[in-house]
Amino acid sequence: MPEIVYDIVLFLHSILRYVIVLAALGAVVLAFRGWFTRQAFTALDERLGMIFTSSMHLQLLIGLLLYAVFSPLTQAAFMNMGAAMTSAPLRFYAVEHIAMMILAVIVATVGRVLSRRAKDDAAKHRMAAIFYTIAIILVFVSIPWPWAAEGAARPLNPFHMFTGD
Ligand code: HEM
Repeated sequence: MPEIVYDIVLFLHSILRYVIVLAALGAVVLAFRGWFTRQAFTALDERLGMIFTSSMHLQLLIGLLLYAVFSPLTQAAFMNMGAAMTSAPLRFYAVEHIAMMILAVIVATVGRVLSRRAKDDAAKHRMAAIFYTIAIILVFVSIPWPWAAEGAARPLNPFHMFTGD
């Protein structure tokens, strides 16, 4: 598989994190405001929840592609999972990142379903507020930010694979 395909898939995965974080923050702020000030559940509330959960699902697909096909880190880990567990970066990408992110996708999806099915607007806001908050905390702590463990950490710049940062 040419290196450029890996770079493009990794770039999409890297930049989509910002869509997820921004959509989640917007959805969570609106949900708490709507819940505590008893406002109607508007088309904007609905749309932000949709953008957040859809971008999580797309990220899951891209992540699975990286995990199973492209990432040299996971490929190295699969050669010897036992040894990989003693290496912080290999363990992070082969086990911790995927496990926490799949959990976050499930929590966000359950929250959206419960919010849509809730019978009144207050309950819609409440479900979105609680589940989206838990989901974005899981996502936030599992993103390989520059301050993450050495070897797992990645630059904030989503173009770093092209610019060589
Ligand atoms: C759903 C929320 C997720 C977010 C926000 C997220 C975020 C990220 C970020 C920011 C990176 C670093 C990219 C870079 O180098 O700039 C990364 C790497 C990676 N992610 Fe995710 N991820 C998510 C889910 C997943 C899932 C579910 C999987 C696996 C199924 C996955 C697999 C990977 C792999 C294998 C890498 C390392 C790629 C490499 O450097 O070769 N991610 N992720």
